[in-house]
Amino acid sequence: MIRALLLLFTLAFAVPAAAQDSDFVPAGTQTVEDIMARQRALADGDESVRAVRDRQGGPDEAVADGIGLTADGTMGQTNDWSDPGIWRGVRYDDLDMRSQIRGPAATTLIQTGGMEWLERRAGPLRVWGGGLLFFTLVALGIFFLLRGRIRIDGPRTGRTLVRFRVYERFAHWLLAGSFLALAVTGLLVLFGRIAIIPIFGHEVWGPVAIVTKWVHNNISWAFMLALVMVFVLWVLQNIPDRSDWQWLKRAGGIFGGGHVPAKKFNAGQKAIFWAVIILGASLSVSGLSLLFPFEMPLFASTFTHLNDWGIGGLFGGLPTDLAPQEEMQLSQLWHGIVAFVMIAIIFAHIYLGSIGMEGAYDAMGKGRVEEQWAREHHSIWADKVMAERDDPRRKQTGSPDANPTPAE
Ligand code: HEM
Repeated sequence: MIRALLLLFTLAFAVPAAAQDSDFVPAGTQTVEDIMARQRALADGDESVRAVRDRQGGPDEAVADGIGLTADGTMGQTNDWSDPGIWRGVRYDDLDMRSQIRGPAATTLIQTGGMEWLERRAGPLRVWGGGLLFFTLVALGIFFLLRGRIRIDGPRTGRTLVRFRVYERFAHWLLAGSFLALAVTGLLVLFGRIAIIPIFGHEVWGPVAIVTKWVHNNISWAFMLALVMVFVLWVLQNIPDRSDWQWLKRAGGIFGGGHVPAKKFNAGQKAIFWAVIILGASLSVSGLSLLFPFEMPLFASTFTHLNDWGIGGLFGGLPTDLAPQEEMQLSQLWHGIVAFVMIAIIFAHIYLGSIGMEGAYDAMGKGRVEEQWAREHHSIWADKVMAERDDPRRKQTGSPDANPTPAE
């Protein structure tokens, strides 16, 4: 009896001990080498979400792998969903997931693209965007040193012409004021953490960030309203025509000297106008998609069209199967890129509309410009306005343009 008990005891402990001591590995179990090999491959290769996915396989491969806990609780081949397979499915949004939380992104628990987005936002967007603004300012500074202020060449007449009416100036300053507020707060959102926290600390950045976000989100409506107003008021005068070609061929006379005939807006101003309208519209749409998260996905449908037109092929085919978060991340990056380009253009505009050109600011400041300035920079427009002003029939009607006001 004692011998039988001893045999039983020995058998009970001997089998697991033998299994621990030997190199026995249950079928399908991942070894440390497997994991290290996969990590090496990840480190070597393309880290894009889809490349990783192709290399690791999706849920189908996970079923084939079938690695996980078997019915009796030991690691091994399950021929069913495995832990890695499940997490892979979670990661690539391929599982039929349900959640009590309502919302388009509620069932996306892991979104690998978030890391790529974070790196692009913290890296190239800040570096290239900040660089663009810096070099634009440097270029304008050099231009100012070389060319100096563009002066009114001829003798002043003492008379002025109406250039912008009060509602036009209101639209312009609403656009300018809101844009500048958005530019400053937008730059704070992007650079605040690295620029403010190291100097002033978290205590300062906290309230600044709250105000910044509030201003940015709410002033955007004023910008969109002003953009529509400016478009409606000035679109007809900004349609390109033959006079623009002459102006462009001589670069507006900036380098060769002399003045090139121009209508109310010259080709350079038309370029600014269309840049403001197109970039401003793109900023508005991508901004709205950020303001209403997951409600306005823009990129999957845009990429589908670009692929259909063959443009996507230039980039190796653009992805059209985007997770809701990926849509948001692309909106944010696009919003940032467009904003940087527009701010750089506006730097040049502000320069020319203020210190860069004598007499230009009066157009938006007072609404009237010196007649000589108008003759030099917008001769076709000036001739037309002066002809109308001097028309005896208009003088009788008492039109507001009829009586020239002496310049102050
Ligand atoms: C805050 C500084 C700004 C100043 C001093 C300024 C000045 C001016 C001036 C003087 C004009 C009239 C030029 C003329 O009579 O031919 C003008 C026009 C215009 N401004 Fe501004 N502006 C400023 C900001 C902005 C901003 C931020 C935007 C857009 C986001 C903008 C958009 C426009 C557009 C579309 C025009 C008409 C086309 C053109 O003249 O280029 N401005 N601005």
